[in-house]
Amino acid sequence: MSDPATSAFDPESFRVQGHALVDRLATYLARAQAGEARPVLPWRDPGEMADAWPSQFLERGQSDPEGLLEHVIAEAIHLHDPHYVGHQVTSPLPLAALCELAGTLLNNAMAVYEMGPGATAMERSLVRWMAGCLGWDARADGVLTSGGSVGNLTALLAARQARAGYDAWNEGAYAGLPLCVLASEQAHYCVGRAAQIMGWGRDGVVPVPVDEHFRMRASALPETYRGALRAGRKPIAVVGSACSTATGAFDPLDEIADFCASRGLWFHVDGAHGASAVLTDRYRRLLDGIERADSVVWDAHKMLLMPALVTAVLFRDGRRSYEAFAQEASYLFQDGDPRAGWYDTGVRTLECTKRMLSLPLYTALTVYGTRLFAEYVAGTFDLARRFAGLLRAAPDFELAVEPECNIVCFRHVPAGARDLDALQAALRRRLLRAGGFYLVQVRLPAGLYLRTTLINPLTREEDLVELLETLRAAARE
Ligand SMILES: Cc1ncc(COP(=O)(O)O)c(C=O)c1O
Repeated sequence: MSDPATSAFDPESFRVQGHALVDRLATYLARAQAGEARPVLPWRDPGEMADAWPSQFLERGQSDPEGLLEHVIAEAIHLHDPHYVGHQVTSPLPLAALCELAGTLLNNAMAVYEMGPGATAMERSLVRWMAGCLGWDARADGVLTSGGSVGNLTALLAARQARAGYDAWNEGAYAGLPLCVLASEQAHYCVGRAAQIMGWGRDGVVPVPVDEHFRMRASALPETYRGALRAGRKPIAVVGSACSTATGAFDPLDEIADFCASRGLWFHVDGAHGASAVLTDRYRRLLDGIERADSVVWDAHKMLLMPALVTAVLFRDGRRSYEAFAQEASYLFQDGDPRAGWYDTGVRTLECTKRMLSLPLYTALTVYGTRLFAEYVAGTFDLARRFAGLLRAAPDFELAVEPECNIVCFRHVPAGARDLDALQAALRRRLLRAGGFYLVQVRLPAGLYLRTTLINPLTREEDLVELLETLRAAARE
């Protein structure tokens, strides 16, 4: 009998378990895509769910993981179901899942070139390709990091070094005037969180009002800027949302760029969700002006069919990417000046160790080409417009705002309904528990709305017709 480590690392067991797992997952994928894995979300009370996953482990474990993996699948939300129309998390490409398996086994953990030579090169190529898609030249650079929240923090740290007028990284947040950024009141909460992490407090983000389409009112920037100055703050940047999370509104990037240029401000675009529209012919115009940004965040796990998490933080002037974490760690970075070693990506990321983030996207682009992605993005945006058409044509539904991307917010307004907010909340709860669909809700100034993100490439118009019918039936009950 071999020792536990030897048998746990046995290549033949890996082969057998791997084949069984891929077979199991392929069957699952087929069932989920056909809507046979429903409920989309197998809802259970969180306490009850916690009890189903005991925290005692035996000294000698079970011999194979199959039962446990079966349990994991059974208790998962099913993103491959075309009736998943919830948060902005995509149904990842199956090929990406295989790449994740390879990446996990290889575990080339980056930070320094030696710990992930190929992964470092793939990351550089992806960053260059993405920067090129934004319209930037070879001076651009950037890194991959773990999510849009970390990405926005990284970009704003670089903005701070570039525009604070003092060395906030080394001397601290109190070495000069308190800083702030201006962002639409619809900006993702991680922008505020980044400001608070940087020690700027609650007022570190000054909200800019939005128009009736939930886009930043660029004409309000001068007054918002002056207000920040009056409050004793030094604005260093404007954050444009492309698009916003709640309703998918694209801020007017060109106008924001003009304002930033006139005041010497850094221009950051949070394109976590919407930057992928640069790949399309039809929707590229939503991002007009993005090429003038100093930095852009672009999530591949939102609209590039990648599993969570992989985010690009891109800088038009690539040298800026070294300023977010302007710190030396001599045991890691032996060249003194970290800029000499672009290939040690850890100098430019919050993470030291990170996953081989580049592998799935690089592989998918190689295998399927860029067309798959362009058509996917445009297809979901098109579908949202058709869904909006259905909603407009239905007297018992109300569209919150014309969708610009694949996020659609609406509410059910059956004749005689009195408390519309309570109705939407109840409808969502009911749909969730029944398991036929998964969608979310959002509070907008006019009240509570149902919110869908049409992010699964297999979701069709018929599914959305069925969603409306299901909501009607639930309201009747
Ligand atoms: C516009 C925007 N920015 C940032 C984020 C945060 O990204 P992540 O969840 O990858 O941290 C989100 C997430 O929904 C988003 O919609």
